[in-house]
Amino acid sequence: MSLREIVLYPDPVLRRPAREVERFDAELERLVEDLAETMYAAPGVGLAAPQIGVSLRAAVVDVGGAAGRPELHVLVNPRLVESEGRQREDEGCLSIPGLSERVDRPRRVVVEALDARGGALRIAGEGLLARAICHELDHLDGILFFERLTGLRKELTLRRLRKLPYLQQATA
Ligand code: NI
Repeated sequence: MSLREIVLYPDPVLRRPAREVERFDAELERLVEDLAETMYAAPGVGLAAPQIGVSLRAAVVDVGGAAGRPELHVLVNPRLVESEGRQREDEGCLSIPGLSERVDRPRRVVVEALDARGGALRIAGEGLLARAICHELDHLDGILFFERLTGLRKELTLRRLRKLPYLQQATA
């Protein structure tokens, strides 16, 4: 297991819909473990495989972050099966450091997914967990959180995005 480098916007891998995982082998277990390590080190509450440059439908989420990882959720080939209510809270992304904005998400979701060994999982989440799950599912479809905004708030956020310090350095 090892820490991976987090890919930053505007890397094209972040905009590409990721492929279904087909092989449940040691390589996938390593990928999931690296995702978890990299998420905790960041620190963050979720990380998707495209964010470490791997275009596969795998992600991890942990909104608790406690020792022993009691709240670590592994999401391989996840599928949203229930969604209800609405919440609007601040959201950011490890791939877009320095940007955050309030994003509408469902208040409660249920996802079905597989673990790194192909075992079936069903995860129900509310509040921050629901938000984190939706954010990571979006990553697997190549969607970044600012694309969930509309109207003036989207325009203003895009303007802030273009002025982010790390992007200025990249083009200087
Ligand atoms: Ni993100």
